[in-house]
Amino acid sequence: MTGLEVTVGSLALRNPVMPASGTFEYHPDSPPPFDVNHLGAIVPKSLTLYPQLGNRPSRLAETPSGLINSIGIPSLGLERFLAEVLPRYEGLTAPVMVSVAGYSPQEYLTLTEKLSAVSLVAGIELNLSCPNLDQHRMPAQDVGLLRESVKSARSVTDKPLWAKLSLEVTSIVEMAQACLESGADAVTLINTFRAMAIDSQQRRVILGNGTGGLSGPAIRPMALAAVWDVSHAVDIPVIGVGGITTVDDALMFLLAGASAIQIGTASFRQPLTMVRVIEGLTGHLAKLGVASIAEIIGAGHLS
Ligand SMILES: Cc1cc2nc3c(=O)[nH]c(=O)nc-3n(C[C@H](O)[C@H](O)[C@H](O)COP(=O)(O)O)c2cc1C
Repeated sequence: MTGLEVTVGSLALRNPVMPASGTFEYHPDSPPPFDVNHLGAIVPKSLTLYPQLGNRPSRLAETPSGLINSIGIPSLGLERFLAEVLPRYEGLTAPVMVSVAGYSPQEYLTLTEKLSAVSLVAGIELNLSCPNLDQHRMPAQDVGLLRESVKSARSVTDKPLWAKLSLEVTSIVEMAQACLESGADAVTLINTFRAMAIDSQQRRVILGNGTGGLSGPAIRPMALAAVWDVSHAVDIPVIGVGGITTVDDALMFLLAGASAIQIGTASFRQPLTMVRVIEGLTGHLAKLGVASIAEIIGAGHLS
């Protein structure tokens, strides 16, 4: 026992730190510069049912305190993921939460059903920020579609099911409540914000797709407020994500009520960020003489 153990619903994690989907891949032939088993969990890039290429370049633009990406979701599709990617995770002790992006509730159902049947899949994170092809809406922005998508996935799995939401909504609390009522075990807050950049000299829009999603420290205060709002209003575990870069950032999210946190953009600048945050949390517990990180979760208070 290290004192960092947490639970997210029924899932026990050795510590609350994991990568944000789309920002970390594990391949045994080119492993990261740390032992991946030190992570609380592993969350790979979102997977779609069928193969797709992702967006056209350029796909990245740096902004002050942030990164705009329009990677889209390049995906091998479910069949190749099962055959080629998942076997790479065999033998790891960190639980693998597979992120899926569907274009309809039926696709969320199929992805969840097939992946849940694989023993090394610990659970599923539903990336609900993918536009629905028929209705041209994102489940994360349409409460009816959100309910349908989460319920569809829930109907075919008993494994942990996390719903990842967007803060580009009128009420994040309403969306999280809908996830709870539809059977999600936790909500992951939050995905990126729609953003763009223009090269003023060349008068050229930088991203090939026109717009992309803003991540990094620029979005951290909004993510933190979302975690605070939901954890105080809805009886569902929250995984906090958005701009977390230091152990102090991680502590803020835990104090706001997050049971666990994800780190994305910060790992691009410093690949050791996640392990440094884990070490920092251990140091923080020792400094305070606190036995368990659980004592910190939700302990933030209004003055
Ligand atoms: C390059 C890049 C790719 C991403 N791809 C995905 C993805 O496939 N699925 C997903 O749910 N979120 C994706 N995200 C969003 C992150 O998981 C995370 O929610 C967001 O970046 C905020 O966290 P951060 O500020 O720590 O990066 C991506 C973010 C970046 C920067």
